Amino acid sequence: MMGRLSEKVAIVTGGTSGLGAGISARFAAEGACVVVTGRNAERGEAVVAALREAGGEGCFVACDLGDEDSIQALMESTLSKYGRLTTLVTSGAATATNTGEREISITNLDNDILERSVSTNVYGLLWTFKHAIPHLVKAASPDQGVSTSIVTIATAGTRNGTPGMPSYWATKAPVEVMTRSLAREFGGAGVRVNCVSSGLILTESERGAITPEFERFVESINCVPYFGQPEDIAAACLYLCSDEARYVSGATLCVDGGASI
Ligand SMILES: NC(=O)c1ccc[n+]([C@@H]2O[C@H](COP(=O)([O-])OP(=O)(O)OC[C@H]3O[C@@H](n4cnc5c(N)ncnc54)[C@H](OP(=O)(O)O)[C@@H]3O)[C@@H](O)[C@H]2O)c1
Repeated sequence: MMGRLSEKVAIVTGGTSGLGAGISARFAAEGACVVVTGRNAERGEAVVAALREAGGEGCFVACDLGDEDSIQALMESTLSKYGRLTTLVTSGAATATNTGEREISITNLDNDILERSVSTNVYGLLWTFKHAIPHLVKAASPDQGVSTSIVTIATAGTRNGTPGMPSYWATKAPVEVMTRSLAREFGGAGVRVNCVSSGLILTESERGAITPEFERFVESINCVPYFGQPEDIAAACLYLCSDEARYVSGATLCVDGGASI
């Protein structure tokens, strides 16, 4: 089924790679105008070129999540290009892979990685909410049952933790409680807020980073005998951002092959 997001204008943070690139492509294929963001213009423009080639609409807007002015400018560019904001997906993050934090014990905590993780995953996430929500409220019509929505991307691993990624776990764990808090605060104004809690997904960068031992570990805890792909996360985000989910808010949809049950 195509067109499940027609009339939507979506910002996808972290749209320049990995899960965000997959979400951007699927949203555009379903009729949304997609604002792909991140710092890397080359990768961002490539994501936009691909979604346009497939018949979708989108643009790249550079944005550094560690800089509040840059986030504010992202909202202004979106409004000036598409006139409104109906949908936000927060996939952008400093991850254990893109910071190189894999297998760094708390006893060797790297302060540069910690600062980058806090500034992107905590400050950046909260600033994104702060500057996007007024526009999402404006585009909603709760009296007519028309909602706008946010989907946050959390990490299923925060339920159990693993050794060796202290900055990542400490800065990704707040995502789920922020999702529920915002769902309570803005539901009455017509903004639904949900979370997709992702298990290990074989993005290009993850594929290069995981060791055979870690691969075997994930296989041993997954309920299904295969790894997730970016399309699996995109499909969950699509449902939550579509009008089919108009009565779903404050939910966390765990897409992890059953690893965390
Ligand atoms: N892949 C997995 O197995 C997995 C599992 C669980 C949860 N997740 C979550 O899924 C999300 C995406 O992860 P991924 O695997 O797709 O990682 P990724 O390929 O490294 O993508 C991370 C994205 O975040 C953006 N980003 C990082 N720092 C930024 C900053 N300061 N300002 C603006 N953008 C920034 C990057 O854009 P630029 O480089 O262009 O700035 C990139 O688009 C993250 O929230 C992660 O925690 C992933």
